[in-house]
Amino acid sequence: PIPLIIDTDTGVDDAVALVLALQSPEVDVRAVTVPFGNVGVEKTFANARRVLALAGRTDIPVAAGAARPLVHLQEERAPQWHGADGLGGRAAEFPEPIAADPRFAVALMADVLREATEPVTIVSIGPLTHSALLLGAHPDLVTKIDRIVAMAGSLGAGNTRGVAEFNVYADPEAAHRVLNQFEVPVTMVPLDITMRCLADGAWISKLIAGGPRCAALAGVIALYREAFLERYGIDAVALHDALAVLEAILPGTLRTTALPIQVACDLGPARGATVADRRPEAQGPPVHVALDADTEAVLAEVLRRLVSFG
Ligand code: BDR
Ligand code: CA
Repeated sequence: PIPLIIDTDTGVDDAVALVLALQSPEVDVRAVTVPFGNVGVEKTFANARRVLALAGRTDIPVAAGAARPLVHLQEERAPQWHGADGLGGRAAEFPEPIAADPRFAVALMADVLREATEPVTIVSIGPLTHSALLLGAHPDLVTKIDRIVAMAGSLGAGNTRGVAEFNVYADPEAAHRVLNQFEVPVTMVPLDITMRCLADGAWISKLIAGGPRCAALAGVIALYREAFLERYGIDAVALHDALAVLEAILPGTLRTTALPIQVACDLGPARGATVADRRPEAQGPPVHVALDADTEAVLAEVLRRLVSFG
């Protein structure tokens, strides 16, 4: 199996994405690392450990990391989507969180890479703070990384500011560090594709029918679904982070286009924008941007794996 590190600011779609990875024999989850993001790091960290408890996976080391972005002190959070507890108001219904690994998240990432005998995939489904720190602090370990798959950015509309997606807006300087380097290949999974993979009521009903743990997961989605209906007028939810995890599990599931990407890091209205340069003379490392997929097949595959959670 592909060795995997999951870096997650555990909110609603992160919880779904985590379970997806745990239900997939193609990958071996070596560590879960948790930054701030959808809610504060103390909550995202407890949530990651709650999801691992629900899955009975006390064997996976899970470590907390960054409480804030790298450079600016903006405090972007998303309780309107994820609830004040980050799990759609259902955190208290989960089993007690599994024990915390005492290491700092980036130290745990480095240890996993150091010990790995095969290249490791990092799937980043929150702000890119930890991946940026890892690349900066441990250049000797970059050859141990196969690729970074990041749910990040948008080439069109934003969901946090006019043109900024949440994970990039939450730490644009970190996103710049990860997307503008030649050391490690990056697959970027932007809103352009995640907003096309919408799980509707029928999909959620099939998830609930999977069993009590599936029903618990579906419970987490309920508030998020209401927020989606209110914002977009559609009764369906985007499973953003699950798409990045599915791509890490089954490389090539999403169809990518290689494009240099610049991240707007100024403090103006474009802060957090991910700008693709499609000119032939474009410079900069190509990022493999997932812009297309068989969306029906993706939704069916995610559901098939989740239902086996029972
Ligand atoms: C991303 O932002 C977070 O709120 C979600 O968990 C996902 O990682 C979508 O823009
Ligand atoms: Ca996330």
